[in-house]
Amino acid sequence: MMTLHLALKPSRVISPSRIWLGATRFNVQGCKGFGTTHIQRSGKIPFQHTELSTKARKLVESKISLDGKVTVITGGSRGIGLELAKTAAALGSDIAILDVREPDESIAQLQEAYGSRFVFHQMDVTSMDGMEAAFDKVVQKLGKINNCVTCAGIALDKPFLEHTWDESRRILDINILGSFFSAQLAARQMIKQGDGGSIVMIASIAAHCAIPAQRVSIYGASKGAIKLLGKTLAVEMAPFNVRVNTISPGFIETKMSAQFEDIQEVFRSVPPMRRIGQAEDLALATAYLLGNGASYTTGADIAVTGGLHNGRIEL
Ligand SMILES: NC(=O)c1ccc[n+]([C@@H]2O[C@H](COP(=O)([O-])OP(=O)(O)OC[C@H]3O[C@@H](n4cnc5c(N)ncnc54)[C@H](O)[C@@H]3O)[C@@H](O)[C@H]2O)c1
Repeated sequence: MMTLHLALKPSRVISPSRIWLGATRFNVQGCKGFGTTHIQRSGKIPFQHTELSTKARKLVESKISLDGKVTVITGGSRGIGLELAKTAAALGSDIAILDVREPDESIAQLQEAYGSRFVFHQMDVTSMDGMEAAFDKVVQKLGKINNCVTCAGIALDKPFLEHTWDESRRILDINILGSFFSAQLAARQMIKQGDGGSIVMIASIAAHCAIPAQRVSIYGASKGAIKLLGKTLAVEMAPFNVRVNTISPGFIETKMSAQFEDIQEVFRSVPPMRRIGQAEDLALATAYLLGNGASYTTGADIAVTGGLHNGRIEL
């Protein structure tokens, strides 16, 4: 039996569904324990906490900690964005949620639960003026921007032959231009501050392949653009130590995926891992990309799809 638990910042919680007050716990399958590192093999003395293991643990903690950082999350009012906001807060970051809609959870309660500063500004990613004003307000209120997660997005499931100009234009405006200019505003502020930063753009499995049972051609095109932007911006921003990476979620259980009522069974059965993903399945991929541990990672895409982006053996 092996136990590996990293005690990060006391009194942080990583998810409301798992209230771990006292310490943030990362469970490794088949492991148990708390706050210490134990490796037990049959017939052997349990692994003792040593000076070296304490040092090593502190090193890992420092690489994942977001203490003292400010993270902006577009589309952070619900679903994946809200979960990633909580993840960053659990790791010590102050949080700015920028979204066209009010958050599903109270900002005051989030602040109290996570012990980080949370602010919300209403912002529509299709308005450049509105975005500039919102990013300015973040800097006024929280002092700086170190990380940005571009999560605001909409989907359209419709046959290619029936897509209209206006609805297709709207997908591209929100998903591509909204993410592109959010990243630009964040990068400008990071460059002004002079100490780099991390931008994580949320793409999709639709950027990798056609999605079983969904007709999301223009949505897929918009997410393909995000995946490529992750690479081109990574190269252009590298001299400023601003890292840009993307995450491609598979089917994730949120209000967005819930609107596709007739294919819920597909979401649950077609991924090779045989389940729909949860927003928290994206948490540690995001934490990695935001943290100093990823200081040499830029232009990467992490596909969190239950294996679906690789294909399927069965129908
Ligand atoms: N849920 C999935 O299965 C899935 C899979 C792959 C990728 N994604 C992507 O993840 C991201 C989040 O998806 P979700 O499932 O949490 O969806 P969601 O609908 O629950 O959340 C999307 C958020 O974006 C905000 N938003 C929409 N239009 C906006 C605008 N014009 N300006 C500002 N904010 C706006 C919404 O208000 C909402 O809070 C999206 O980019 C989506 O494309 C989701």
